Amino acid sequence: MPDRVYLDNSATTPVASSVLDAMLPYFGAEYGNASSLHGYGREARRAVETSRESIADALGVRSDEIVFTSGATEADNLAIVGSALAHGGGGHIITSRVEHDAALHAVEWLRSTGVAATFLDVDEVGRVDPDAVRAAMRRDTFLVSVMAGNNEIGTLEPIGDIGRMCRDRGILFHTDAVQALGKVDIAIEAVDLLSASAHKLHGPKGVGFLVVRRGSRLVPLFHGGGHERGLRSGTENVPGIVGFAAAVRLALAERRDVTDAMRRMRRRLIDRVLEIPGTRLNGHPEQSLPHITNFSFAAIEGESLVMKLDEAGIATSTGSACSSPNLEPSHVLVAIGVPLSMAHGSLRISTGRETTDADIDRLLDVLPGVVGELRAMSPFKVGE
Ligand SMILES: Cc1ncc(COP(=O)(O)O)c(C=O)c1O
Repeated sequence: MPDRVYLDNSATTPVASSVLDAMLPYFGAEYGNASSLHGYGREARRAVETSRESIADALGVRSDEIVFTSGATEADNLAIVGSALAHGGGGHIITSRVEHDAALHAVEWLRSTGVAATFLDVDEVGRVDPDAVRAAMRRDTFLVSVMAGNNEIGTLEPIGDIGRMCRDRGILFHTDAVQALGKVDIAIEAVDLLSASAHKLHGPKGVGFLVVRRGSRLVPLFHGGGHERGLRSGTENVPGIVGFAAAVRLALAERRDVTDAMRRMRRRLIDRVLEIPGTRLNGHPEQSLPHITNFSFAAIEGESLVMKLDEAGIATSTGSACSSPNLEPSHVLVAIGVPLSMAHGSLRISTGRETTDADIDRLLDVLPGVVGELRAMSPFKVGE
């Protein structure tokens, strides 16, 4: 549908045509199992290992430090639960209140098994203070997990500082780099474990990886044929892995142009949307991922706003799906201290490599009217 505008690229992105082209042979003629000894298997193995090398090169790690998974939810769980299992029970984890549920709920579950956890507060733009990480460290802390860039509000975290501090103390450092990969530099030298997902950068859904730097001790979550150096049993998703490598190559090749355009669009969005009365920007105005911008509008519900924009052909999101029946506001907005009256009226706009200035114009044309319409129907008034 050419006249629709897609501004929800942090939820997922369209598969780029070059990525699809790279994948197609592995759904067709080259359908072998990468563990088979015959020619089909050897071609699949070659494709998996070439992809692994190309991703490792892009990240600046060794290829045997990449463990392919079914996505970043699994990679986060492998890092967090796997390191807890390797610790042998008990111990202490430090994380932040603004992590993605894939990390947060893994830590919460570990708590129910007797692992202690500190959930660090963040400042008003969502940043974790490295000094707070240092202060929370205990003798039995075995893992610190802080994301590279926030998926709801875009704020970048000081992962280089936090990671170096962990290294000095011999504590593993994990970062969820799902939204940051291909968009900003990542201080990989300070990271032991890093999660990523292909579908956030114009690759396919259902494939991710965990970087496991040498010397990081993990116990696998899946047991079986011993694939991925024993860390993740299960037949490799050959087309998915090939697609992920193609998506990483594309992101690298285009990075400067695409992220410059994203930054320009973000700046325009911030300037223009804040002209609407009763509006606030959530997250850091500059130290942010280039593709994510999050606003709150007083006296309206984010879900109604998303639905109205969808009727106008513009796809956005509220930031995080309110899956709970009592419609609790996003844990990220609560953590940065957005007043409850505004936390319900949030809108996340996220751009991708295909987003144009015309798409942003279209949103900017429609948004003030939609906000006004919803406020006219609202029992609350701006300023209450
Ligand atoms: C920061 C972050 N971590 C983890 C995930 C989960 O990734 P996947 O969809 O590959 O399981 C997402 C996707 O929403 C994300 O944005």
